[in-house]
Amino acid sequence: MLNDVTLACAALPNNVFGYFITSQTQTFVMNPAGSSGNLCVGGAIGRYAGNILSSGTTGTVGLTIDLTNMPAPTGSYAVMPGDTVNFQFWHRDASPAGPTSNFSEGLAIPFDAVTAGPTFETDIYPMLTQPNINADSCSTCHGGICGLDLSTAQTAYNNLINVAAGCCPSAIYVVPGDAANSLLLEKLGSPNCGSSMPLFGTFAGDVNMISDWILAGAPF
Ligand code: HEC
Repeated sequence: MLNDVTLACAALPNNVFGYFITSQTQTFVMNPAGSSGNLCVGGAIGRYAGNILSSGTTGTVGLTIDLTNMPAPTGSYAVMPGDTVNFQFWHRDASPAGPTSNFSEGLAIPFDAVTAGPTFETDIYPMLTQPNINADSCSTCHGGICGLDLSTAQTAYNNLINVAAGCCPSAIYVVPGDAANSLLLEKLGSPNCGSSMPLFGTFAGDVNMISDWILAGAPF
């Protein structure tokens, strides 16, 4: 699970103070304790009371939170995959009857586990060493053709990532994050330069996975 959540709240009255509250339970309490608003965060409510925010002249607040250190009445806890966590912004407000408090709308965030994407050593390199349909494996031919040495996973990785092609002019084998400009992928389809790979045969691996791997930054 990525720890990259920033809470944001807009359309607040200008220049009011408040803080975010959170819990894993939802409720609905109208005008709690004389507030002008409705409480939607229920049960064991944690408060970001150490992060009192002002809405300023734009009526907005933002807070980057740490999912490994979530406030709760009894201390703190870490969000686990599968948890849904609810948030509201609790702030000062003014009413005809005088000062009051108010609540933002509620926000529920479901947290899922991040499924790990393909990596070179585990998922991609084995495709380059397995026999292809009616052709040798990529690594059988590429012990150095065009400078491309695929003999081991580490050598292959070092030869591919951001490396200029030895034969096709001004091409890069793998540009992390940029599948369209990665010659490795182009050679598995209809290349602008030379033949489609594997030479004389059909690729036995998964071209879409190679594309996903490049788009995800081409990790080893
Ligand atoms: C039968 C031998 C053979 C096999 C098998 C083979 N290649 Fe090639 N490959 C070549 C030759 C020869 C060239 C240079 C001529 C060309 O680009 O058409 C080449 C060129 C390339 C290039 C471009 C090199 C450059 O610098 O421009 C890439 C990338 C490549 N192959 C990848 C692969 C991949 C990936 C596989 C496996 C799916 C593979 N090759 C299978 C012989 C082979």
